[in-house]
This record gives sequence, structure tokens and C-alpha cells, in this order.
Amino acid sequence: MIPDDVIDEVRARADIVDIIGEMVPLKKAGREYKANCPFHEERTPSFCVVPEKGFYKCFGCGKSGDVFAFVMERQGMDFIDAVRYVAGRSGVEVREVNRSNEEEDPHRPLYELNAFAREWFREQLLDAKKGSRARAYLEGRGIGMDVAERYGMGFAPDEWRALKEAAAKHGFEEEMMISLGLLKESERSSESYDGFRSRIIFPIEGLSGKVIAFGGRILEGDGRDGPKYINSPETPIYQKGQNLYGLSWAKNKIRREEVAMVVEGYMDVVSLAAAGFENVVAPLGTALTSEQAKLLSRYCTRVLLLFDSDAAGLKATFRAGDVLLEEGLHPAVVTLPPGEDPDTLVRSGGPGALTALIDDAVDVLDRKLHILDERKYFESIERTRSAVDRLLPTLRAAKDPALRDIYVAKVADRTGVRRETLEAEMEKGRPSQAVPRTQSAPRSAPTLQRHIQKGGAELQLLKVMVRGIEWVERAAELISGEDFYDPHHRAIFQALLDEPEARVPPRSMDPVTAQRFGVILGDQEELSHGVEVFMNSVNRIRVLALDRRIQDLQTRIEAAAGDDEKLELMTTKAGLAADLRELDPNYWASATRRGPNDRYPNEANR
Ligand code: UTP
Ligand code: MN
Repeated sequence: MIPDDVIDEVRARADIVDIIGEMVPLKKAGREYKANCPFHEERTPSFCVVPEKGFYKCFGCGKSGDVFAFVMERQGMDFIDAVRYVAGRSGVEVREVNRSNEEEDPHRPLYELNAFAREWFREQLLDAKKGSRARAYLEGRGIGMDVAERYGMGFAPDEWRALKEAAAKHGFEEEMMISLGLLKESERSSESYDGFRSRIIFPIEGLSGKVIAFGGRILEGDGRDGPKYINSPETPIYQKGQNLYGLSWAKNKIRREEVAMVVEGYMDVVSLAAAGFENVVAPLGTALTSEQAKLLSRYCTRVLLLFDSDAAGLKATFRAGDVLLEEGLHPAVVTLPPGEDPDTLVRSGGPGALTALIDDAVDVLDRKLHILDERKYFESIERTRSAVDRLLPTLRAAKDPALRDIYVAKVADRTGVRRETLEAEMEKGRPSQAVPRTQSAPRSAPTLQRHIQKGGAELQLLKVMVRGIEWVERAAELISGEDFYDPHHRAIFQALLDEPEARVPPRSMDPVTAQRFGVILGDQEELSHGVEVFMNSVNRIRVLALDRRIQDLQTRIEAAAGDDEKLELMTTKAGLAADLRELDPNYWASATRRGPNDRYPNEANR
């Protein structure tokens, strides 16, 4: 920590125009300075610096703050480094900016314990005798001790209480070791024991380089079972969704090369480093989160996704792609040969093998179009319609306006759906838009009842999904967020896809949705006939989603100006009607008998 008076002095002495001017071409305009905003794409300058007040503000994207905030945002520094940076340019003694007051950080003892543990693991790896098998294992995988040292790697020997005893000698408390996952409590005896045993240790650093957690890989061929990796639990200094493995080492390279590579695991990061690729990070055993995407967006705009090419990897790729787009990043997909990960690829083919694939990286939307094409989605009108549904979340996700225009044009071109239609559909799915739209819709009383019912199936399904990851995976295969009527339910569904084992709503969730999610998570009701409830809800949601689309089309058919447009809409409608008939023959039969205006009067009883 830096004392407040030092921070104030640095701020006061800094020439904000000078410092921001080094990174952004400022033009004087009266008492202010203006430029095109460095944080979002724009053609007319709405970014302005007010030297008198010592702050900057963009009237386009709303970003604002003092000189430190600018440096943090623009250079991706943490606060302390930003103060040092500004101090260095403002003639304030850097010596004054020391971290002497660190007692103020309540988590300091936790960092100290982790630092001790890292050093101890490291010594075990370097120990001539104890570390020999682990070193041989790493060498066998192309990881020399130089790379291992760079990443602070270590080894936890095959002993029950070696770390525990070493830490006790240095006065670390057992309780704190347990809370960090370094020790585990035993059910049989009262004595706790080392949490990492006979494993290669990967320290996980926060942005500032402090160790916040560990990952441990089992040593192959030592005949013990257990998970391949174990990881520290979440603690006050470690939230896995908010950190990226490798970022503290990679951040400068990422900024310089203006591109980050995202791989699946620890080994990929370290192995790519050994092959000379240092702009590499990995999410920590979960789907990429928006916090992680935000972290990357401090350093670069382009992101390469290097996940497995199997079905699960592809799903993770597209999910990560949408998350990155939401943060204004431009994701592209590197397609690895089946069965390979980046580590095996560079070890068998050398760095050149990866460089070649990187050169062939395809923008995430192009990859999606390509796959839909491969699966023959563009060969019939109905299939094209469902292709559009699969593409819409990606179009909506694209926050960068220029990229978004390109995407819409591409999808329009490929599917034959007009740009305006796509844009209207994109608007519809937005949570903030969906509610007023239905309120102003002309069909009130019966529709309202149906909405309640629609919510019913959606709620049922979500309640099943929170019971376990297997339900989430099955649901993900059968329906998409698009199919949900209620925007809150849709957001909860999406959150479960991102974090299938979430036990609390993500912090980024809007409060109303989070409250509902909390209720669903807290639902203690016994679940009998799980499969049946699940299938019924999924079916119901799909039927209702189709019905909604059909009604929408009907409205548009009635409003259509030209015959061509009308015909196109009617053909699409006929395709959807066929899908609906297939899904639920009864529903469709009873609906057609009653005519379009008073369908489903018994909805509330279904
Ligand atoms: P992988 O199974 O792909 O492992 O898991 P890997 O990184 O390629 O490792 P090697 O090459 O087999 O040694 C990818 C990531 O998923 C998490 C870890 O973060 C891992 O790096 N994971 C995997 C776990 O947390 N636990 C596990 O049991 C397995
Ligand atoms: Mn691997």
C-alpha cells in the first residue's frame, strides 16, 4: 500500500494532459483537450481531459476518472503500478512510493503463507533426491527447469505432513493453512494433512504477482488414483472466475503483441512458454467468465481461442467467444487437429506447427457459420431459421459497433434474412427490451395467463438444472437461451451454462435476476420424477418458443408491404409450423381447430 498523502502528492504534481497525451493524440479545445476515445470506437471525439479538475471523461462510453484510473485502464496496471508510473513521469521520488504500509491489507498473512508454500514446493522440486522423479517427468514433457523456475513451479512430495511440519516451524497457523487448502482435515483422525501430495505444483498468481492459489497435477505412473488436477478452494484472495492462469507473466507480451491466446490448462500455458509463446493464459478449470474477459480487454483486443476440437471444446469455444464479444473483444478460433491440445501440438510439431494453425485462425462468427454449413443448416428454410436463432446470441454479444455491423452483414448474406429483420430480432432478445415489448403488445388478457404458464415451465427447468451439472449439460444440448421467454430466466439459464455448479448468483448479475436465481438455488423441494419434469419442461419451452415465433411471423405477414416479403415470411412460418407439429401434434391440432385468435384457452391448466 502507498500512504494516502503520497498518492495525493503524485496526483497533484502529475500533468494529466502530458501523461494522457503520450497515449492519445489530444487537441486543445478551450480549457479542455479532446480526442477520439481510446476505449471505444468512434469517429467524432467525445473523450475529453479537464486539466483544471485533473480528470478525463468520455461522453460516448462514460469512462471517466483521474490520471491513475486512466493509466490503469489504458495500460492494464494495478493501482500501485499506476501510481509508480505517474510518479516516474511527474518528478515525485519513486522511493517515497514504497509498500511500507502493507499492514493495512487484512489478507497479508494469507499471501505470506502462500509465498512460503510456493518457496517450499520449489525447493522440493529442486532437491536433488526428492525432486528427481518430478524433474524427470517435466523434462519428459519438454519443460526444462528454466521454464519451471520462470513459472515458480514446484513439487509436493509423497508425504502426509511434510509441508505442515515445515510451515509449523515458521509459525504459520494450522487453521489458516486449512482455509487456503494447503492442509486438509481428516475424518478419521483429528490430525490434518497436506492437501497436495505427490503432485507437480503450479502457483497461480494474481495480477500483481502475488500467489493467490495453487494447482497440482498428479505425477503420471505413480499408480495412485485421484483427480488429475486438484486446485485450491476459493478463498478471500482467490476467486477462480476472476483470475486467469498465466496473466501475470503474459500481460506485457499480450500488450506488445496485441493478441492473447486462451488455452485450456496449466500445462498448455507452460508448454507454450517453453516453445516461445508467452502471450498465453488459461481460465482456471471453468468456462471463461466475463470478469476474465474484462481482464484481457485491458491488454488487447484480439483473442485466439485454442480449445480442444471435440464437441465439448467447441461448445466452450463458442461460449467463450460470446463472452469475449460482450466485452468488446474480437475472438478468433484456432482449430487444433482432433485429439491434440496446444501442448501436444508444439511438442510433436514444434512452434511452427502452432504458428501455421494461428495463421489459419478464423473469426468466431465465421467459424460458427462454417459449422452450421457443414451440418447442412442452410439447405432448407426451417433449418436456416434455426441457424439464425443460433447466430443471434453472437450477433447480440458483439459490443464493438464496427464488428457488429460486419457480423450482421455476414449473417444477412449467408442466410438471406434482411439486415433490418436481423436487427429487429437482435433487439428483441435483449433483457431490458423484452418486458416493455410485451406490455405494449395488443394481446393482453389471455396472453398474460400464458406468460405465467410459460414462466412455469422455465422455472421448473431451472429448478432441475441447479440439481447438478448433468442436467445443465442435457439442457444445453436441447434448448438455447433464445427459447426462454422471461429475460430473467434466460439470464439464469445462461449463468448456469457458464458455471454449472454455481451455488450463488454471479456478482455481475443484475440484482432482480440474482434475487430470483437465489430463490431457485435455495429451493429445497424433493425432486421426484426428475427426468419427466425435465423433459416436460424442455418440451414445453420449445413449443412455446416456436409458437411465439409463429405469432410474430403472423403479425409481420399482416404488416408486410410487398408480395415477395409476404411469401418469404409465409414460407418461414410454414417451416416453423412443421417443427411445432413434430414436437407436439396435439398442441398444434387443438390450436388450428380454434383458429389463430383464441388459441390455447386452457393454457393455465396445462
Ligand atoms: P486437461 O485434462 O485438458 O489437462 O484439463 P491438461 O492441462 O491438458 O494437462 P495434461 O496435459 O494432461 O497434463 C484442462 C484444465 O482443466 C482443469 C485444469 O485447470 C486443467 O489444466 N482440470 C482438469 C481440473 O481442474 N481438474 C481435473 O481433474 C482436470
Ligand atoms: Mn494436455
